[in-house]
Amino acid sequence: MSNEPTIEDYYFEDRKFPPSDEFRAAAVAGDRSLFEEAEADRLGFWARQARELLTWYRDFDTVLEWELPYAKWFVEGQLNVSYNCLDRHVESGKGDKIAYYWEGEPGDTRTITYGDLLSEVSKFANVLKGLGVERGDRIAIYMPMIPELPVAMLACARIGAIHSVVFGGFSPDSLIDRINDAEAKIVITSDGGYRRGAPSGLKVNCDVALGSTPSVTAQVVVKRTDQDVEWVEGRDHWYHDLMAEASDDCPPEHMNAEDLLYLLYTSGTTAKPKGIMHTTGGYLTQVAFTHRTIFDLRPDEDIYWCAADIGWVTGHSYIVYGPLTNGCTSVMYEGTPDTPARDRLWDIVERYKVTQLYTAPTAIRTFMKWGTMEPAAHDLSTLRVLGTVGEPINPEAWMWYHEHIGGESCPIVDTWWQTETGGHMITPLPGETVTKPGSATFAIPGVNIEVVDDAGNKIERGGGYLTITDPWPSMLRGIWGDPERYMETYWSEYPGRYFAGDGAKLDEDGYIWLLGRVDDVMNVSGHRISTAEVESALVDHPAVAEAAVVGATDDTTGQAIVGYVILRGTAEAGDHLREEIRQHVSKKLGPIARPRTVVLVPDLPKTRSGKIMRRLLRDVAEGRVLGDTTTLADESVVDEIRSRARDSPQED
Ligand code: WTA
Repeated sequence: MSNEPTIEDYYFEDRKFPPSDEFRAAAVAGDRSLFEEAEADRLGFWARQARELLTWYRDFDTVLEWELPYAKWFVEGQLNVSYNCLDRHVESGKGDKIAYYWEGEPGDTRTITYGDLLSEVSKFANVLKGLGVERGDRIAIYMPMIPELPVAMLACARIGAIHSVVFGGFSPDSLIDRINDAEAKIVITSDGGYRRGAPSGLKVNCDVALGSTPSVTAQVVVKRTDQDVEWVEGRDHWYHDLMAEASDDCPPEHMNAEDLLYLLYTSGTTAKPKGIMHTTGGYLTQVAFTHRTIFDLRPDEDIYWCAADIGWVTGHSYIVYGPLTNGCTSVMYEGTPDTPARDRLWDIVERYKVTQLYTAPTAIRTFMKWGTMEPAAHDLSTLRVLGTVGEPINPEAWMWYHEHIGGESCPIVDTWWQTETGGHMITPLPGETVTKPGSATFAIPGVNIEVVDDAGNKIERGGGYLTITDPWPSMLRGIWGDPERYMETYWSEYPGRYFAGDGAKLDEDGYIWLLGRVDDVMNVSGHRISTAEVESALVDHPAVAEAAVVGATDDTTGQAIVGYVILRGTAEAGDHLREEIRQHVSKKLGPIARPRTVVLVPDLPKTRSGKIMRRLLRDVAEGRVLGDTTTLADESVVDEIRSRARDSPQED
């Protein structure tokens, strides 16, 4: 880190967007009182949120026990997440309220009430028990965006099992690593799902994975596409068969606030993904608080839509746990935004009268490319708040979202957070904060953020590194099975502080601007992918001797993956091989990790001590003048790489 050049600060933005008086007057948070409350008594503020937003079987005795790097929130408190998401709403007479308007990609729809969801979750919880699942067991879930996915998660939560959702776009190898790391007992999947107008296969990937996952005793399969599947008697079970026999009476377990709720694997700077651990009481408190406050939720009127995939943390916190805890109605959509046409999202907003839309900058930039005709053809006037997440949003995309989707009247909440933080950390409050296009603005009430320089000293102005100075309720509690890595990755770079791995700057008004990752993690379409993981997949190809991977700026995806590859002596260079290598990465890690460009090179730029200088490769990938080359062992290498890069095609 300290070898990196300091982060520079060039961009200046002076457009400001205050909420309208009307919006402010009706807002959940229309003034600074939450900030004032949290500043006066931070723990008291969170305790109040925990007690007001959640229902506890047993109240907690202590708000926070903190022994760096381990936090315990709401100690001795007991609650159940599925009870908070379902039973208590049904008990208060909201059983007929719609939890999800679900829409499949082919256009089929399902309307699911809180009562339906409670009955389905209770049954499936009994199914899991019938398969021998006990409190504390890990359950892998590999599913498309269908209602059975939240059902499976909530059923785990109901009986105290720990779910590990693996994004449906990951390959069998990725699935194997995640299942084995967690030693999952059961896998829940479906025959497939619909993407881009065709059924994809999911069970087929699980079947491959299950050859190498000794901990798994059973596989439960939801029928979604009716495609042919292989079947292993005794191991494989149809969801609908098991559900037909199951009772819908399953009392929720009383869980401790610090019991694990889920693991979610995320990329780090080494090839091995990290199983991020989230617990029960603190997680649900912060997720419920932010979902309500940041989206200015009116649970009885709103139709809220987070267009992410539940396979990522955004879906966990803001499709499943936040919205259901708050008892609101959500839209859930299975497919892609351009199926059957490029107005699918706007069509959904219009038909369901969506009031909040939460999506990613990469999607917004894609819509910009498609033009303004698509949104203009639909009535989007029901929208009240727009959100973004996943990567820095460039001011042009922010302005486009504001004008063409928000009709210039919706506050935009640019929410900075991470898998590790569990919930929003830096974001405007839509009824209070004056926004600037491209800035995530300020830390939420009850969260303390500081930007520091290389030496770890707090700075008031200019570029540096984003740190969190105090524990927060929905923080990760560790990395599954690897406490040392937890300490080292997050709590060692700047002693006493959580280091997020992101650069950030503070402008003259104290606004926070995120500057992207400063570690070896790429951000492709809002998804974190580690350079190390892609490098090991490249080297896994028999023709590849050595590889280095960088993220290069890309107009649509934020960053695109560029792989520099040295072939083994015998391999024959050419476009065919290059393509084969790209596909190999896709097969190993999933299509999201496939490099945009593979450049075949004779050598890689290294320091005299043999460290690959990724900084120079990034300069090449982005067509820039090379930065400092004084530590480079052999300068001529870079010229050769540059000329090869010019000749290498960019793929989709
Ligand atoms: C990036 C996604 C700028 C950041 C919730 C972070 C952002 C990583 C923003 C976490 C934002 C997320 N502005 N950058 N509003 N939101 N990021 O774990 O680099 O998939 O560290 O969690 O995404 O990605 P993750």
